[in-house]
Amino acid sequence: MKHLHRLAWISLLSLVLVVGLSAFMRHVATGLGCQPWPTCHAQYSGMSGGASSLAVSVARLLHRVVATGTLLLAITMLVIGLRAGPRGRREAVLAALLLVLALGLAVLGVFTAGSRLPAVALGNLLGGFMMLAVAARLVGPPAAPGLGAAAAGVAVLLVAQSAGGALVSASQAGLVCNDLRACAELARAAGWPWQALNPWFAAGLPPVDGALVQGLHRLAAIVVTLAVAALGWRALRAGRRPEGWALLLLLALQAVLGLVVGSIGLPLWAVLLHNLASALLLALVVRLI
Ligand code: HEM
Repeated sequence: MKHLHRLAWISLLSLVLVVGLSAFMRHVATGLGCQPWPTCHAQYSGMSGGASSLAVSVARLLHRVVATGTLLLAITMLVIGLRAGPRGRREAVLAALLLVLALGLAVLGVFTAGSRLPAVALGNLLGGFMMLAVAARLVGPPAAPGLGAAAAGVAVLLVAQSAGGALVSASQAGLVCNDLRACAELARAAGWPWQALNPWFAAGLPPVDGALVQGLHRLAAIVVTLAVAALGWRALRAGRRPEGWALLLLLALQAVLGLVVGSIGLPLWAVLLHNLASALLLALVVRLI
């Protein structure tokens, strides 16, 4: 089991890299940082990436190598868990889940290569986040027994919030408005375009319709922030100081990154960190379930 938990740590770190690389490739493909910025963003057609094509090629190669390594690690952990009998049942189930998610993402990648459909971006982002969350469970037993139900609720909120963020990115609505009031006014002027929330249709809509999605993401961030803060506070009171402080500090960082991303014109570094901080928040919360 010790050996398996060590492999789970390696998977966790590899998945942080995979999530980051996949976000980098996705954002470059939707024109983040394209030239001339920012006028090219909403009309971006894949012709003028902001990052050099060398950087994208290196990222693609690294992503393939590390993702394949993670798949092999999942198979190895599954075998170790199965061979340990009843003692390794929990680990075997989690490793099998990791394997299913990895294969699902591989199939999605093969059949949707080059797709600009927000539903595909959502599938990629959430699939990667789920893998990270499962790996976080595999590294050891739950970190704070007693907080399980609250942590499960917060994990659901984080997944929903991350899906909303991915929809903002994939609909290229990140620059449409830069505060909650502006988003609400634009959404009202556009006649509350609820179809913008449909990840199968959002790509064909005018970018301004994304103001509704971005406004909801900002509004929901208030609820999610309060929920994560309450969980962090409860973890501290339950004597889980490392988990509690890690949650509170990561949350503070995420709030600042959200504001940077949402108000100063989508710098690529901040969008990538905003994505990674979301994935790490989810992994930390899942450790508490
Ligand atoms: C706990 C709170 C939050 C979480 C978990 C979260 C999560 C996310 C995620 C996962 C994405 C997608 C990133 C990607 O596609 O790679 C995103 C995008 C975005 N978020 Fe958040 N977010 C939070 C709070 C905020 C706040 C407070 C703001 C602004 C005040 C904000 C503004 C944005 C914007 C503008 C985008 C779109 C970036 C783009 O166009 O690429 N977020 N968010």
